[in-house]
Amino acid sequence: MAAPYSHRTDDWWRSAVIYQVYPRSFADGDGDGTGDLAGVRARLPHLAELGVDALWFTPWYLSPLVDGGYDVADYRTIDPAFGTLAEAEKLIAEARGHGIRVIVDIVPNHVSDQHAWFRAALAAGPGSPERELFHFRPGRGENGELPPNNWPSQFSGRTWTRVGDGEWYLHLFAPEQPDLNWAHPAVRREHEDVLRFWFERGVAGVRIDSAALLAKDPALADFVEGVDPHPYIDQDELHDIYRSWRAIADAYRAVFVGEVWLPDSERFARYLRPDELHTAFNFTFLACPWDPDRLRRAIDDTLAEHAPVGAPATWVLCNHDVTRTVTRYGREDTGFDFATKTFGTPTDLALGTRRARAAALLTLALPGSVYVYQGEELGLPEAEIPLDRIQDPMYFRSGGTDPGRDGCRVPLPWTADAPHAGFGAGADPWLPQPEGWTHYAADRQRLDPSSMLALYREALRLRRSEPGFGDGPLHWLPAGDGVLAFTRAEGLICVVNLSPQPVELPGHRTLLLGSGPLGTDGRLPRDTAVWLRA
Ligand code: NOJ
Repeated sequence: MAAPYSHRTDDWWRSAVIYQVYPRSFADGDGDGTGDLAGVRARLPHLAELGVDALWFTPWYLSPLVDGGYDVADYRTIDPAFGTLAEAEKLIAEARGHGIRVIVDIVPNHVSDQHAWFRAALAAGPGSPERELFHFRPGRGENGELPPNNWPSQFSGRTWTRVGDGEWYLHLFAPEQPDLNWAHPAVRREHEDVLRFWFERGVAGVRIDSAALLAKDPALADFVEGVDPHPYIDQDELHDIYRSWRAIADAYRAVFVGEVWLPDSERFARYLRPDELHTAFNFTFLACPWDPDRLRRAIDDTLAEHAPVGAPATWVLCNHDVTRTVTRYGREDTGFDFATKTFGTPTDLALGTRRARAAALLTLALPGSVYVYQGEELGLPEAEIPLDRIQDPMYFRSGGTDPGRDGCRVPLPWTADAPHAGFGAGADPWLPQPEGWTHYAADRQRLDPSSMLALYREALRLRRSEPGFGDGPLHWLPAGDGVLAFTRAEGLICVVNLSPQPVELPGHRTLLLGSGPLGTDGRLPRDTAVWLRA
C-alpha cells in the first residue's frame, strides 16, 4: 500500500500544496446528511487527480459540534458522525497510497464542556485539583456577580460563564469551549501525549488551533487597550511549549502549521524559529484586498519576515472561517475582516471568479507552501444560509448581526444529476445547498477545460513538474502600474494584471498557463494572470 509521497524529501512541507478538508461538508458516505471519513475515502481519487500533496482535516474528534468540532470532547476518538479510529487509520494509509500526507488539527486552547476533565471539574467544585486544569475564579462585585475580568472574546459576547456554585470559568470562545490552564503540567503532558498518539498513527503534521492564545497572564489582569503585553495573546511562555512540541515532532519527522493571527511581523516570526513551529498561516495575505500595491507589499513583508528565521511562507486565500474567495473578490471591499461581514453585501460573482482564477496562479507561483480550501478548486461562492438553518455560534453570539461562517461550509457538489448534488445519497445535507449549486459540480467541471477545476488541476500539475516553483527565490520584474510580475528559478515568470488596461507580456518562450485567454492582440487582459517560461 505505501507508495512514495510526491515530495520525497523531509522538506516536502516547504513547497507543498495542502488541501483543507472540512469533513462535515466534504462528502457523505453513509447518507445521514453529514460528511464523513467514508466520504473522504471514496473521493481520494479526486484529490489525487487534483494533485495535492497533503490533506489538513479540521477536527474529526468526538465533539458535540457546537463549534464545528473545535469543541473536542476526546482527542483519541473519532466522532461517530464521521466514523471510527480504525477508519481514520485506513484513510491515512489510503491517502499515503495516493502519495498524499495527512495533517490533523489539534485544539490546545480549549476543550468541549463535555470533555471528561471539564465534567470532573464541575462536579469536584471550588478549590479542587480538577478545577486547576481550567481557569475557575470567584466573580467580582459584592456577591461575585460580575465576571473576574474584562477580557474581550474571540467570538462576540462574554469570556466568562458562572456555574451553579458561584464560580466563573474562562472561555475565549463559546461557553461550551472552556479554556485550559496551560500553566498546569498535566495540560502540557496530555497534549504531548495526544501529539504522539496521532504521530504514531502516521500523520505527517499538525495544525495548531488558536496557537497564540494558550498562555494567559497569571494574574488574569484586565485587558487595557493599547497596553502590551496583551493578557492572553502572544504571551512569551508559548515559545517554551512549542519548543517541547517541536522535539516530539522531530522524532517523527512531522511538521506543524500554526494558526497565528498576529499583526506584528517580528512577533509572528518568533513562532517560526528553527526549534519551534515549521510554518504558520499567512493571514496578512488572506485578508489583503485585490489591490496591486497592497498585494505586493503583503508578499514582500511576508518574505522579509520569514527570511531571518529560515521558515517558508504559506499562502492562503480562504478557509472554513472566512468569506469564500470568488465572493470576496466580487465585492467592493475585497479584503477580509470579521468585523465588517454583513448579510446581503452586493457581489459580482463573474468578476470575483475572474480574480480568484488570477489569484490562484499568483499564490501557486509564490515561494513556499499553498493551502487550498475544499471547494476553492470548484470556484464555490459564499452561500447565504437561511436564518433558521444557521448553526455557527458566531452568528448567535453576535445577536444575529454577523452572518457567521456557515456560508463557506456548505456541503460540496460532486455530481450534477445526483440527489444533493452528489454530496450524499440519503438525508438532506446538514446545511442547505443553495439553488444553482449543481452548476459547480465536480463532474461537470471535469469535462470543461475552462472550469476552475481544470485550472487548478493544470496549475498543480505544472507546479509539480517545474522545480522552479515552491520554496526558493523570487525576483520582481519591472512592470507597469497595477501589474505584478516576478521570476522564479528555471526561467519561470508569473504576471498578474490588476490594472484596468490590457498589458504587454514580458519576453518569453512559452506560455505555460493562463487564468483566462489573452486578447487577440496577445496582451494580458485585466484581472488575469499567466505563467510563462523565459
Ligand atoms: C479557529 C478555528 O479555525 C475556528 O473555526 C474556531 O472557531 C476557533 N479557532 C476556536 O477553536
